[in-house]
Amino acid sequence: MPTDIVEKILRLKRDRNAVILAHTYQPGEVQDIADFVGDSYGLSVKAAETPAEVIVFCGVMFMAETAAILNPAKEVIIPDPRAGCPMADMITAADLAALKQQYPEYAVLCYVNSPAEVKALSDICVTSSNALAIARQVPAETGILFVPDKHLGSWVQEQTERVMVMWEGFCPTHVRITPAMLARARSEHPHATILIHPEAPRESRVLADQVLSTGGMCAFAAHSDATEFIIGTEIGVLHTLRKRNPQKRFSCVDESITCPNMRRGSLDKVEKALAGEGGMRVTVPQDIADRARGSLEKMLAMSG
Ligand code: 13P
Ligand code: SF4
Repeated sequence: MPTDIVEKILRLKRDRNAVILAHTYQPGEVQDIADFVGDSYGLSVKAAETPAEVIVFCGVMFMAETAAILNPAKEVIIPDPRAGCPMADMITAADLAALKQQYPEYAVLCYVNSPAEVKALSDICVTSSNALAIARQVPAETGILFVPDKHLGSWVQEQTERVMVMWEGFCPTHVRITPAMLARARSEHPHATILIHPEAPRESRVLADQVLSTGGMCAFAAHSDATEFIIGTEIGVLHTLRKRNPQKRFSCVDESITCPNMRRGSLDKVEKALAGEGGMRVTVPQDIADRARGSLEKMLAMSG
């Protein structure tokens, strides 16, 4: 890693009393200078707790928005404001309002990969690491509206057998994980344990050994006796896994499984964001933030 830019980032971070949070899908150079690297859930916990005045959020827009909602007094900066999430953009507040009219008695579970306005209309927010546990805490007689990821929703439905209505959203990166990729990985690495993200389609998920969030993959790989893993999610997590488990082997189910928005992260953009020469401050209108915070705080409380 080039040391001069790293030194500049560390100096700017001290001067501004900033913390750098990075998702496990970020490029390795960004993960390496972050104060905390984690999945969507872990990052939202850190964002809620940090005593720093400035949060540089290396991830995509809905994550930075979540940090701003949970910590309204802080300055949250996203290094590249073009880093959106196509899945989050697949549902609007008007879409959810219409769906709620159709199913007025249902509880609304909203994947954190969603706009703030949609969180504001939801009962409980979830991430891929806690969606199952939270769905199980919704009273058994209550139906569930699950937005916007139909694949995460169907995974929850398969495990809980609950009455659920899914929005038709999906992650364009994870839907490219095909059964053929898993079959090839299995034949090329017969002794490997295959971990897949619940955003992947069911026909691929059923061929894996474990369905886990990226944080779940990190915990599983660290504690498992297995020494070789095939990973069915965005390739950025390979950096996290290899760094934390140097004695184990990790490969991606296919090198093409990349999220172009997560790939927008770079050291240069982090430095510019801290120097006030780039990036964008992320804010959420107060009335929306106040309502969205309710669904996020419920998630934090229900995740124990
Ligand atoms: P997790 O961080 O919950 O594993 O979700 C992955 C993801 O797609 C975030 O955009
Ligand atoms: Fe969105 Fe998928 Fe990229 Fe995650 S991996 S940010 S869900 S497009």
